[in-house]
Amino acid sequence: MKFPIIAYGDPVLRKKAPSIEPAEYPHIKELVADMFETMYAARGVGLAAPQVGLSMRLFVIDATPFDDDEPELKDFKKVFINACILEETGEEWAFNEGCLSIPDVREDVNRKSTVKISYYDENWKHHEETFSGMAARIIQHEYDHIEGKLFTDKLSPLRKRLLEKKLNDISKGAVSVEYKMKFPAAKKGR
Ligand code: NI
Repeated sequence: MKFPIIAYGDPVLRKKAPSIEPAEYPHIKELVADMFETMYAARGVGLAAPQVGLSMRLFVIDATPFDDDEPELKDFKKVFINACILEETGEEWAFNEGCLSIPDVREDVNRKSTVKISYYDENWKHHEETFSGMAARIIQHEYDHIEGKLFTDKLSPLRKRLLEKKLNDISKGAVSVEYKMKFPAAKKGR
């Protein structure tokens, strides 16, 4: 089942998401499968639960579209539950990021190159791992979502001001997008 993706402006994207317990989500694997299905249909490489309206510490990543450039991303398909970034190190580098909740906007974002993260997978197995490069980049972007942050928060005041109208339009649904979305400020009946 595909979810509609929640657009910029919805308060669920601004909430720090709580951790979840196995007992609360006995069907977590179905939810994870639905999130991957939603992400693939929108041609994304990552999707966080708040982006489908669920405030919980869960995100999914499939970075295999980048594996031509970075061989270590081959088969990089992972589920992150109750993730906690323990350390971010290395030089900051810029990459032109986009977000399924903010269609049609791409901006250079600076992030540190390496991230150490603790998380559970969909079998509730605990992991503590270190990632670099594009893997770290996608993790940091998705992790921001469960912290209630968006990549546009990281832009300069000038870039933010230049984007203001566009972001406002997105929240109203005044954007052309190929996948199903839910717009917080859309007029009823449209
Ligand atoms: Ni995003």
